[in-house]
Amino acid sequence: MSNGDVSQGRRRFLIGATSVVGGVGVVGAAVPFVASWNPSAKAEAAGAPVTVNVSKIEPGQQITVEWRGKPVWIIRRTPEMLEGIESLNDQVKDPQSEAPQQPAYVEGVYRSLKPELAVIVGLCTHLGCVPSYRPEVAPADLGDAWLGGLFCPCHGSRYDLAGRVYEAQPAPLNLEVPPYRYDDDATITIGLDPEAA
Ligand code: FES
Repeated sequence: MSNGDVSQGRRRFLIGATSVVGGVGVVGAAVPFVASWNPSAKAEAAGAPVTVNVSKIEPGQQITVEWRGKPVWIIRRTPEMLEGIESLNDQVKDPQSEAPQQPAYVEGVYRSLKPELAVIVGLCTHLGCVPSYRPEVAPADLGDAWLGGLFCPCHGSRYDLAGRVYEAQPAPLNLEVPPYRYDDDATITIGLDPEAA
């Protein structure tokens, strides 16, 4: 595929991101005085942690939230999905996540604080397209061996449901896992480390 496809994928995400920023701008316009005496407030908001209620995410479902201008995916993995991840250890480039693509406290094959919930930055490590969430097993276009995962439409990189890239793909690295913590069983905050870390 061409670079045009890459920019299209990025543009789609940026259009979504711009609408969110536009919404924030309306709030900002209502408090011009605050903004004028605190010029760093906008910069702080752009890097601020994002708290998400994860209790309504159904098994197998994926949602996207924005953090620091990036799409962050939260996926509730089923026991079958976790088994699939284990079975792919000899087909992915970095099964134990040795490259620093995640905080130290999410080491291991699941790359998460709790096995059932994946938190992954949805930007391909090749040229930054947004991959598609493809949880189905053996769909016609991805082949019989596909156990569910993330597929980048720009140049075809394949990742498993832990964001680990398969061998022999254009993407060099596993997808990034952002810092995050559980505030309680139903709530996570992206952008903050667990207190014990
Ligand atoms: S951007 Fe090239 S494979 Fe994803």
